[in-house]
Amino acid sequence: MRKLLLLLSVLAAAAPLAVNAQEPQSVRAASPTLDIGGAFSLSTHNGQRLTDADLKGKPYALFFGFTHCPEVCPTTLFELTGALATLGADADKLAAFFVTVDPERDTQEHLASYLGAFDDRIIGLRGTDEETAAIARSFKATYRKIPLDGGDYTMDHTAVIYLMDREGRFFDKIDYREDHKSQLEKLRRLLASG
Ligand code: NI
Repeated sequence: MRKLLLLLSVLAAAAPLAVNAQEPQSVRAASPTLDIGGAFSLSTHNGQRLTDADLKGKPYALFFGFTHCPEVCPTTLFELTGALATLGADADKLAAFFVTVDPERDTQEHLASYLGAFDDRIIGLRGTDEETAAIARSFKATYRKIPLDGGDYTMDHTAVIYLMDREGRFFDKIDYREDHKSQLEKLRRLLASG
């Protein structure tokens, strides 16, 4: 009996570890599907609280990144800025979000100043570590910290732009460095949807 109790307590202690160890794998294995998206709650770079419920009725584009990103994020933001400019006033019907996966360095002030270089319709979002993990999980996005020499670090992260319809459902995605024409076409289809 004592042995059984010991075994049970060992199993109970090991269970949360097993769940944690499995989680990243299942997230990594998943490819974008209709199951993408869901409830979230984050803070904007203007300090307002934003949840998925606030976006009901408005299609949106969302992607994950971090302001210290050397290439992927600035390129994506630059291209999105160009696409929004081409769409003109139509783009006002769309919301666009840059969710930081590096809330440690990307403070609200830092996000605001970084995004000042891009279309002002792109809103920065940040959360606690838990909130960041939660939205990444619901979008099946991954990110991880990569230590650099000298104690610095960079972030590896999913680079697609998620296009969500006005009901908050996954509509389509734009891949990193996708052809400009194709990006515009997808954004136009999203605006015209349901
Ligand atoms: Ni990046």
